[in-house]
Amino acid sequence: MKETNVLTDLDRPCAFVPTMGALHAGHQSLIRRAREFCDEVVVSVFVNPLQFEDKDDLAKYPKTPEIDAQLASEAGATILWRPDYEIIYPDQIQLLTSGELGKKFEGVHRPGHFDGVLTVVNRLFELVRPRYAIFGEKDFQQLFLITKMAAQLHPEIEIVPAPTIREASGLAMSSRNVRLNPESRQAAEIISRTLRMAATEDNVERARFRLQEISSEPEFTLDYAEIIDEDTFEIATEESVRRRAIVAGWIDGVRLIDNMAMKSALVRA
Ligand code: PAF
Repeated sequence: MKETNVLTDLDRPCAFVPTMGALHAGHQSLIRRAREFCDEVVVSVFVNPLQFEDKDDLAKYPKTPEIDAQLASEAGATILWRPDYEIIYPDQIQLLTSGELGKKFEGVHRPGHFDGVLTVVNRLFELVRPRYAIFGEKDFQQLFLITKMAAQLHPEIEIVPAPTIREASGLAMSSRNVRLNPESRQAAEIISRTLRMAATEDNVERARFRLQEISSEPEFTLDYAEIIDEDTFEIATEESVRRRAIVAGWIDGVRLIDNMAMKSALVRA
């Protein structure tokens, strides 16, 4: 695997995995997925200040460059690209906005976050020009918005969703998990437990009711818990065919998000 700050023109099609570093098994699964599409797999590491509305969160974002290189190489990356700030953000850049959806759910709690995500991903796409780009389902709203942005601005790139990787306890893998102490880690299990319970209901109202169980964990402060229609990202109704529960909240100063596909009695015609 080549490590570089400067990405030169690639002479073969590539699959791309953008990251902010602090790689873990979840990122490795994205890289392995990328390898199924192309022999050339570019992994970028760039902590994007534009998507951090909370400067403290940005300052605390974990940095593990040696581990990143080891995990990326092990999973099959061929290029690990750590672009300098000036390459991503020269004087003139196109700032993207995430519209109404960017202000809902995550957007309520992280104003401007998705504008920053779309802006950097668009810029990364311009520089890497991949054939495929892999994004985890864990950040489901991000995946939805990036898929829409790419369809408009980069129709030549196929956005490939990859399933969430979980620890044995059910906790969704995240770079932020390193900030959880053993007690908080245990308390965080309420998230996947509640999602799994809600997923057994094929009635939206009942699934929504089950989801409220999440507040039974006193350590967990809820930001939102909702069932959405995967095709529109609107609040799900009984008519929604593909439903997903999305949750976010705080445990001991660490913000955690997760989601899970819900059962549906409806079958697409
Ligand atoms: O999901 C992430 O790690 C980031 O939001 C991304 C897509 C790398 C953009 O900075």
